[in-house]
Amino acid sequence: MTPPRALVTGSTRGIGQAIAASLEESGSMVIRHGRTFKGSEAPKSQMWLCDFSDPTAACAQWKLWLEQNDPPDLLVHNAGHFEADTAWEPKAWDICMNVNFHTPSRLTQLLLKNLERPLTVVNILSVAALQPRPDAYSYSESKSLLMRWMHALQKQASQPLRIINVYPGPVLTDAWKKASNRPVAMLQPMDVARQVLRLLLKPQVSRTAELILTAG
Ligand SMILES: NC(=O)c1ccc[n+]([C@@H]2O[C@H](COP(=O)([O-])OP(=O)(O)OC[C@H]3O[C@@H](n4cnc5c(N)ncnc54)[C@H](OP(=O)(O)O)[C@@H]3O)[C@@H](O)[C@H]2O)c1
Repeated sequence: MTPPRALVTGSTRGIGQAIAASLEESGSMVIRHGRTFKGSEAPKSQMWLCDFSDPTAACAQWKLWLEQNDPPDLLVHNAGHFEADTAWEPKAWDICMNVNFHTPSRLTQLLLKNLERPLTVVNILSVAALQPRPDAYSYSESKSLLMRWMHALQKQASQPLRIINVYPGPVLTDAWKKASNRPVAMLQPMDVARQVLRLLLKPQVSRTAELILTAG
């Protein structure tokens, strides 16, 4: 397989950083994304700085980026916003929906319009997409919506579209490091990255793969 040109969103740290590093190690050209870069994370990568909490502004930036650069043929939707909330907390609802659903779905649509080649999309979802967390309702719903939207898109897309949905349980990244309710068994970011690479290299995953990942 020719190494893809990949955009990994939210690759300044955590799971995204591990996926970006693994892809680079396997020969891919990686476009890293985040809101801020310290400058030393990935000297060989291209960078895209963009805040996903405003989907219209993010799409305008993405259009401009696509006009000036070669489009990626692998899109890893990893950037995510998590916030504990209740079902009726409007602010948490908006930010989760924007970062976790509206922006990634709209970026995918725009890319498909600009790409005449097959596209692979990896979605880093969560076990909460399958079993909503009552303490993080908007997060769970935003992940679940992206999952369902991707399934619908695949049926409608005019070019070949391969979708890999990954549903991790708790992964030891920054958010958990501060938490007092940390589970005993947790995945490491590299565990998720290794599984994503494994699925990407599997020739039989030609259309859809669904992977639930938990520790232990
Ligand atoms: N950790 C877990 O237990 C776990 C479990 C299941 C699923 N997940 C999912 O896995 C993905 C990565 O999680 P993680 O734990 O690695 O997260 P993390 O360490 O908190 O990193 C989040 C990444 O997303 C970016 N991001 C956050 N808000 C953004 C915004 N408004 N606009 C643009 N980029 C933004 C961050 O970039 P900046 O540099 O701009 O902050 C960062 O690169 C998320 O989608 C998360 O929901 C995580």
